[in-house]
Amino acid sequence: MEWNPPFARWFVGGKLNASYICVDVHMRSWRRNKVALYWEGEPGDSRTLSYAELYREVNRYASILKKLGVGKGDRVALYLPMIPELPIFMLACARIGAPHTVVFSGFSTGALADRVNDVEAKIVVTADGGYRRGKILPLKKTVDEALKTVKSVEKVIVVKRTGAEVHMEEGRDLWLHDLLREAENYVRPEPVDSTDPLYILYTSGTTGKPKGIVHSTGGYLVFNHSMYQWVFNIKEDSVYWCTADVGWVTGHSSIVYAPLSHGASIVVYEGAPDYPAPDRWWSIIEKYRVTIFYTSPTAVRMFMRYGEQWIEKHDLSSLQVLGSVGEPINPEAWLWYFEKIGRGRCPIVDTWWQTETGGIMISPAPGVGLVPLKPGSVTYPLPGIDADVVDEEGRPCKPGVRGYLVIRRPWPGMLMTIYGNPERYKKTYWSRYPGLYFAGDYAMKDEEGYFWLLGRADEVLKIAGHRIGTAEIESAVVEHPAVVEAAVIGKPDPVKGETILVFAILKEGYEASPKLASEIKNHIRKVIGPVATPEAIYFVRSLPKTRSGKIMRRVIKAVALNTPIGDLSTLEDEASVEDVRKAYEEFRKAMEGK
Ligand code: WT7
Repeated sequence: MEWNPPFARWFVGGKLNASYICVDVHMRSWRRNKVALYWEGEPGDSRTLSYAELYREVNRYASILKKLGVGKGDRVALYLPMIPELPIFMLACARIGAPHTVVFSGFSTGALADRVNDVEAKIVVTADGGYRRGKILPLKKTVDEALKTVKSVEKVIVVKRTGAEVHMEEGRDLWLHDLLREAENYVRPEPVDSTDPLYILYTSGTTGKPKGIVHSTGGYLVFNHSMYQWVFNIKEDSVYWCTADVGWVTGHSSIVYAPLSHGASIVVYEGAPDYPAPDRWWSIIEKYRVTIFYTSPTAVRMFMRYGEQWIEKHDLSSLQVLGSVGEPINPEAWLWYFEKIGRGRCPIVDTWWQTETGGIMISPAPGVGLVPLKPGSVTYPLPGIDADVVDEEGRPCKPGVRGYLVIRRPWPGMLMTIYGNPERYKKTYWSRYPGLYFAGDYAMKDEEGYFWLLGRADEVLKIAGHRIGTAEIESAVVEHPAVVEAAVIGKPDPVKGETILVFAILKEGYEASPKLASEIKNHIRKVIGPVATPEAIYFVRSLPKTRSGKIMRRVIKAVALNTPIGDLSTLEDEASVEDVRKAYEEFRKAMEGK
């Protein structure tokens, strides 16, 4: 490691290629003829790719990108549903040394445009749609809309998935199947430096602008390869299913790079977890004899509600290890997961990590030696990870005392920077406590040193495990012509962990009504995407602010949740608190009455 705080560089001088490590190496072993990818489409269609087939496809896709002029260092944006073409394109980008930016297909026009613009992508890859709950996601239409505000994009490659009619822009849009006719079967993997970026993935922070997290190639791969061995005990004969979308970091590491580097078989499922019935996931586990299953607490809680009859129908005896990620898991859900899905036989690895950490940091590790598990605790930091919990001044907290989670030493999967904004990188992660990486989470250690994660300590929400900044939602809300100002808070939710509440001040001449609230909701869905849909919108006349004009979200939250309000010494206008309370109560009554 070369450590020029706060920039760490790993395996400096080393050369490698991620597609070579995930695909080519298996060509020289028995694994060439084993399954690399089991794919299950939502309507019930399926596709299986052996490593040899994956190798062929990755090479062919890489040749297409090359012919379109994509070279080392060029950025390619992938806005695709969960279809095999998504991992194939990621590996094809890696093969030619072009960093990919995957944009979650649940994001909408504004979120897509922001990301493509920030990364200055040359190519966007999308599809004529993807299936979700029997409906077709209009991805191509969203791309067409988004590209109206983007200059960098030269070509759009379109995958035919659904057969839905889409507009094809002359000279810009190209069908993948047409391009594949001219594809070549071999493209030499581009040797890249260990410190060349493998990908850029956007995540939410405390401002309205998402951060492009840049990951290296060498450090990232070494870190993930090791962690998946230690945490999941993954082997070449594992059938590994991570239910996350490839659009999040979990999908990058847990669907693509780590399992394939181990030569395991991965499962990719396109659609909704409970479609057409609440046993869809369990039928997939049975069908492919999944051995390692990795999902979110929100999903576990949702299936708890559906009841056991949906699970009992299926043979889940292939399972060996269960994983949880994305948000704290409550002990009740943990125990249910352990007993009903794991049938009391499978350890649960509750894995704490972030987009920024690249891979798993704190988790049980059955692959190296299992410690006694405590439902709701992520247990101990993994080997090499120097994590701690500190107070406001940066001093280690005593056992049982809540503080902030920090990491004391760089690790190989650590982000390299924020794309195009090293100052923001320094400020966000390294300025709160100089020399310590600030994760933005509350945590606590118990008497035995076990770590317990206690939710975000900043203005970032976790909605069904998906990360979204309050500022991002607020800026979408104020784009609506009726709104002058808005504040967003997270409300605890028994299934999703948190849901979104919006407090909005209307412009002169607009009248509060349920109709206007639903218009604003639709507007948010259109700008950011369904992940950001609020549970409710409350219209207020003023918002509590500090004297310097900062909205005090914690005060609004206390009012809405009816919890103690705490210190109000920095509040500018005390009446605003009462105002929020009154407006909130009245409007809630009115809305509930309708
Ligand atoms: C945030 C990171 C990389 C994982 C997917 C989410 C929360 C993540 C846990 C866990 C409690 C967790 C934290 C973290 N989180 N895993 N096991 N227990 N909280 O990646 O979108 O970058 O979100 O997710 O708050 O900071 P992300």
